[in-house]
Amino acid sequence: MLEDGLTQYQQTPILCMDVRAVSQLIADDSYSNEPARHLEQVMDVVPQHMFILEANGTLCFANRAAHEYLGPIEAVSTTQRLASIIHAEDLGGLLQAYQDAIAHGISAEAEARVRNKNGEYRWFVHQLFPLRNEEGDIVRWCGTRIDIEGLKASEEIAQRETLALREEIDTVAMFEEIVGTSPRLKSVLARVTKVARTDATVLITGETGTGKELIARAIHKRSDRSDKPFVSINCAAIPRDLIASELFGHEKGAFTGALQRRLGRFELAEGGTLFLDEIGELPAETQIALLRVLQEREFQRVGSNQTIRANVRVIAATHRDLPADIAAGTFRSDLFYRINVFPLEIPPLRERKEDIRLLIEYFIDRYASKAGKIIKRVDRKSLDRLQSYPWPGNIRELQNVIERSVILCDSETFSVDQSWLVRETKLGQPLPQEMISQEKDLIEAALAECKGRVSGTSGAAIKLGLPPSTLDSRIRALQIDKRRFYAN
Ligand SMILES: Nc1ncnc2c1ncn2[C@@H]1O[C@H](COP(=O)(O)OP(=O)(O)OP(=O)(O)O)[C@@H](O)[C@H]1O
Ligand SMILES: [Mg+2]
Repeated sequence: MLEDGLTQYQQTPILCMDVRAVSQLIADDSYSNEPARHLEQVMDVVPQHMFILEANGTLCFANRAAHEYLGPIEAVSTTQRLASIIHAEDLGGLLQAYQDAIAHGISAEAEARVRNKNGEYRWFVHQLFPLRNEEGDIVRWCGTRIDIEGLKASEEIAQRETLALREEIDTVAMFEEIVGTSPRLKSVLARVTKVARTDATVLITGETGTGKELIARAIHKRSDRSDKPFVSINCAAIPRDLIASELFGHEKGAFTGALQRRLGRFELAEGGTLFLDEIGELPAETQIALLRVLQEREFQRVGSNQTIRANVRVIAATHRDLPADIAAGTFRSDLFYRINVFPLEIPPLRERKEDIRLLIEYFIDRYASKAGKIIKRVDRKSLDRLQSYPWPGNIRELQNVIERSVILCDSETFSVDQSWLVRETKLGQPLPQEMISQEKDLIEAALAECKGRVSGTSGAAIKLGLPPSTLDSRIRALQIDKRRFYAN
């Protein structure tokens, strides 16, 4: 406020002249004196509106800018005049500020829209300050109005843009690809929203194809780390002897074949999020190293003694039953408790059938536009089939079936070949999680016995009574790394 110095508005060119000097001159009892008249002329050339009021509020001077904006100024009381030119929504606030200033002999500042002679409103900041004589008594008041329409407009645009952006972030960016309205999915998404902003380690569990990676990405996108990298590593897809170097990097010459120094995923994810997919497949020694990073937030590259600090949020995922793996001695319980800070269980599609219809529409849309086709309807029978199918491969399987069907579709009506759905599971029944892990255990045991060999007389296929090609495709589907079983 003016008592303490100039406000932001008065740092504009208008008041290159010293307000207090002006005040002194105008506060002189002989206001008609020559210096005061000079000041009126000066005030006439400034672009801001300026007024001088008698102590009782009667207007005694308005500069040219004010006249030009308002047109003829009526000889009525200040309150009446203000009521006729100030926007009804802003009048109360302005009068209140003025009344307070007059009651306490202090200056006032308020924003209010003022109508011009053509009836249009613009935003102004209004200031009123007392002019005192040498004894310190208030003898007049000086009012100024500074046009802030441009400022207001850009403020509004910025506000609108922020709002629009926030809405977009809330609705689109976050869950843009996560389709579904079932209560089960909604409760997962509500938990995603809650945990995203924290730095807590998240463990996502769920059958294959339920959307674990999608959820991990959604958490990252919603977190404060979203402008930093999201790095993922599939622990099942990397040979066990390379996994430590993949995670922590290695120095040149750390092992045979380490020709260059290489950064690991922890370093690549610095400041961001590291997604450890299929964490249940980590070999025992890497489980210890990972536990150390999670506990101490630091690690060493393979072949180096130098400790590197890690600022990384970890999200892990698995389709395995980790407590069962702990019981079987293949997963460390201390690591489990470290990663299971915030568990998120993604329900299988057959337990949220309400979402199937929406997903069908979503995938048809996506693949039809990709294939340049127009699909307007879904054949009733196909829809029933899709809705009653148990989807053992969950959303990924549904997505594949729809993509294939769209490619083959040559009319505007979408239909699905029944044989595909039956073929996916021989009995048309979902493969429960226990069966999947039993199958995996069985295959892994056979591979261990046969030292990773699939075919041939001493291969696992003969042991399991399967054609080698079928076993190979099951090994791929179950993401088993057969190299783990090779003889050293
Ligand atoms: N709710 C959903 N809405 C739309 N698409 C989805 C949804 N959930 C999953 N998907 C899609 O299904 C596919 C499988 O999802 P994702 O890879 O996240 O599953 P996953 O659980 O990690 O599978 P896996 O265990 O096999 O690694 C992806 O293409 C993903 O985009
Ligand atoms: Mg995955």
